[in-house]
Amino acid sequence: MIEHTLAIIKPDAMAAGHAKDIISHIKKHGFTIVEQETMHLSKRDAQAFYAEHKDRGFFGELVEFMISGPVTVMVLEKENAIADWRKLMGATNPAEAEEGTIRKLFGASKGENATHGSDSAAAAEREIDFFFAEPEEQSCCSH
Ligand code: RTP
Ligand code: MG
Repeated sequence: MIEHTLAIIKPDAMAAGHAKDIISHIKKHGFTIVEQETMHLSKRDAQAFYAEHKDRGFFGELVEFMISGPVTVMVLEKENAIADWRKLMGATNPAEAEEGTIRKLFGASKGENATHGSDSAAAAEREIDFFFAEPEEQSCCSH
């Protein structure tokens, strides 16, 4: 089934100049980028986007990291896009990610791990709407 998923190039990878390489990787693996926008998230946006983690010990650190610089937000389209993008990103902790995955290639640490990907169909729908719904229905952004 053709699916859509949300991908984010996080501030660490943006600052390190890896965005172009990550985008080439995405295209080479058969994804079509149907939306793409570079923006600087506000604290409110980052807290809302990662609300599922609000009670975790790393939440404050995660929010500060996500607002530390610009991010590139994309909607990816492909057969089986949700699972395939998670697979191409690799494990959350780059040290545990498989060879050739984006987090292995470009991630610095478990917190600063280069990219985000929706983890289910429900999350993909919510996250795509968060950034790309019509303005009156959008949760994000103050850009
Ligand atoms: P993401 O949502 O960003 O695609 O990452 P994920 O599904 O692989 O991992 P998740 O458990 O959803 O965690 C979200 C992000 O929080 C940061 N994190 N830091 N220091 C830590 O122990 C820790 N654990 C998670 C990472 O940036 C992770 O991607
Ligand atoms: Mg996640």
